[in-house]
Amino acid sequence: KRKTAGITGGAGYIGSHIIADLLERDVEVFVLDNFSTGNRRNLFEHAHYHLIEGDVRDPNAVQAFLAHRPDVVFHFAASKAAGESMVDPVKYSDNNLRGTLLLIEELVKAGIGSFVFSSSAAVYGDPQYIPLDEKHPRIPANFYGYTKMVIEDTLEWYSRLTGLRYASLRYFNAAGYDVKGRVRGLENQPQNLLPIVMEVAAGMRSELQIFGDDYDTPDGTCIRDYIHVNDLATAHILAMEHLLEKRENVTVNLGSEKGLSVKEIVEQARIITGRPIPARVVGRRPGDPAALYASAAKAAAELNWRAEVSDASKLIESMWSVYREIKP
Ligand code: UFG
Repeated sequence: KRKTAGITGGAGYIGSHIIADLLERDVEVFVLDNFSTGNRRNLFEHAHYHLIEGDVRDPNAVQAFLAHRPDVVFHFAASKAAGESMVDPVKYSDNNLRGTLLLIEELVKAGIGSFVFSSSAAVYGDPQYIPLDEKHPRIPANFYGYTKMVIEDTLEWYSRLTGLRYASLRYFNAAGYDVKGRVRGLENQPQNLLPIVMEVAAGMRSELQIFGDDYDTPDGTCIRDYIHVNDLATAHILAMEHLLEKRENVTVNLGSEKGLSVKEIVEQARIITGRPIPARVVGRRPGDPAALYASAAKAAAELNWRAEVSDASKLIESMWSVYREIKP
């Protein structure tokens, strides 16, 4: 029987990449999106899907979405800027807590058994050691990370009490664009390093601000684990199969296990794009840990997953293939 998947936030950056892979595997796809940040371009280019235009906080929209009785629900509809969550907590409790709780409640009421949740390395907070493994204490340093932790714990309770099965996937720094070119919609007002570097390279903004070069790292700039969105997509497919076939919960890091500094990214981007990419060092951004990267051993053991296309050159080349077409 053909598998069916429901995807909230399917017009967004990560959701659209997962849909591209699901469609290739002949999974029937139902999307719930309110287009607050999603890009219609991400959906119109895909061959065949069902769109329910609506909000995860609207019970009627969620019920219409779940009426298609998907075998599994992937939940991408949420806010994701850690810094913003500290100045606008209401936005994050509303979108990320209230919206997700409502979705889980409706899922359980409808008797839909499998849920794939976009969690984050932000649940760990300031690293006590690196590489970060899943046993690292969860002490979120921002409200965004707190919302992810609360949902992880709620899923664990729901699993015990109702039999709901879940995958909590703790993404490190998602980046890159589809290596096959299927997704080309730009993010609106990106807050993350790589899309900002691309916007500078493409002439959409004048310079990059580097948030501090006095960290205790080899070149003084922060080190992060950048994971290609195609590698994330593969992990989601494996997580779906794990839930549907092994019928076990899974909580894993999704990272490349490699750390790249801000300066390394900028230097690689200059080489690959051939553009100057002006960058200016400014003060530190509050809440930024100096260095973090993942251990992905648990995802390898439980999902047979490992990053394949997350090296700096593939990350940047795949993004540049989209951004180079922009006319400033
Ligand atoms: N940075 C700059 N200038 C910018 C933007 C970012 O120097 O204009 C630096 C940051 O200071 C940081 C690095 O680039 O050192 C990466 O910053 P991002 O904002 O792209 O990403 P974060 O590491 O802050 O957070 C991201 C996601 C979170 C997630 C986390 C997990 O946004 O949701 O990765 O590692 F939790």
